[in-house]
Amino acid sequence: MVNFEAQPVSPVFGAEITGMDLAVGIDDATFEALEEAFHAHGVLFFRGQSLLSADAQVGLARRLGPLHQHPAAPMDDADSAVFVIHAHRDSPVANGNGWHTDVSCDEEPPLATMLQIHQLPQGGGGDTLFADMEAAYRALPPEWRSQLKSLTARHESEHVYRGRYADRGVDDTDAIYPAAEHPVVRTHPDTGRPSIYVNRSFTTAIVGMEPDQSDELLNWLFNHVERPEFQIRFTWQQNDVALWDNRRLQHFAIWDYWPDERKGHRVSGRGTKPFFDPDAPEPPEPTIRLSIGALAARPGGS
Ligand SMILES: [Fe+2]
Repeated sequence: MVNFEAQPVSPVFGAEITGMDLAVGIDDATFEALEEAFHAHGVLFFRGQSLLSADAQVGLARRLGPLHQHPAAPMDDADSAVFVIHAHRDSPVANGNGWHTDVSCDEEPPLATMLQIHQLPQGGGGDTLFADMEAAYRALPPEWRSQLKSLTARHESEHVYRGRYADRGVDDTDAIYPAAEHPVVRTHPDTGRPSIYVNRSFTTAIVGMEPDQSDELLNWLFNHVERPEFQIRFTWQQNDVALWDNRRLQHFAIWDYWPDERKGHRVSGRGTKPFFDPDAPEPPEPTIRLSIGALAARPGGS
């Protein structure tokens, strides 16, 4: 029986789901309705949840398909698919503290990520920002979109992951961290909608461009996709669950609560190789109008 409500949290994307207890499991009809909501809104926020066991969370994530193994993070002993999110007084870094799409350096980056926050910082903070890369794409003039569609970008992770989890006992002396090339504009495999697929954390170069030209274009794109018009900000309550689509969104976990502690469990579903389908329909009109002057001339454009 389908029995939940999806309430949009902005005119652009994101929805809060109420009336559903994830701990009791999801029947097939409800799962189908949730998938529809997921494709419509890009990220779903499940309020009023109880603490999910690692098994329960993994079981839910498996409904989306096979699970993704993180290339660097220390995983939960009980289940290697569970990535423990934990920042505290002695943390040298906090996970996700910069704009990124999860593990876009993988050949097959995660399709979706499900995060439950078990422990909130005592003094508040620890919100997560999300940004809609479909809206960012639609806001560009058609001729700019055409130019971007012909480009491929390199995503790397050595600079992100090397030594990152040393404080959690990870010795990565012999580790080789992934790198991949992906289209700058990708087509969503389920909805057919295009989105911009470069992010400040992992994307290092436009393939085939001179380094200066590549840096200039990427910086322009990073600044564009990080505009607040494409964003929402989620304030967690204890045991809230967020499920986001890595094929459509970027996110940024704000570390404004140090020296407080924040803890949770993350599980990701394995995705497929990003692609661009030239026959996929173009969105006709931007759904966000940027003020005149906001789209300052892009580098290398005419
Ligand atoms: Fe992330």
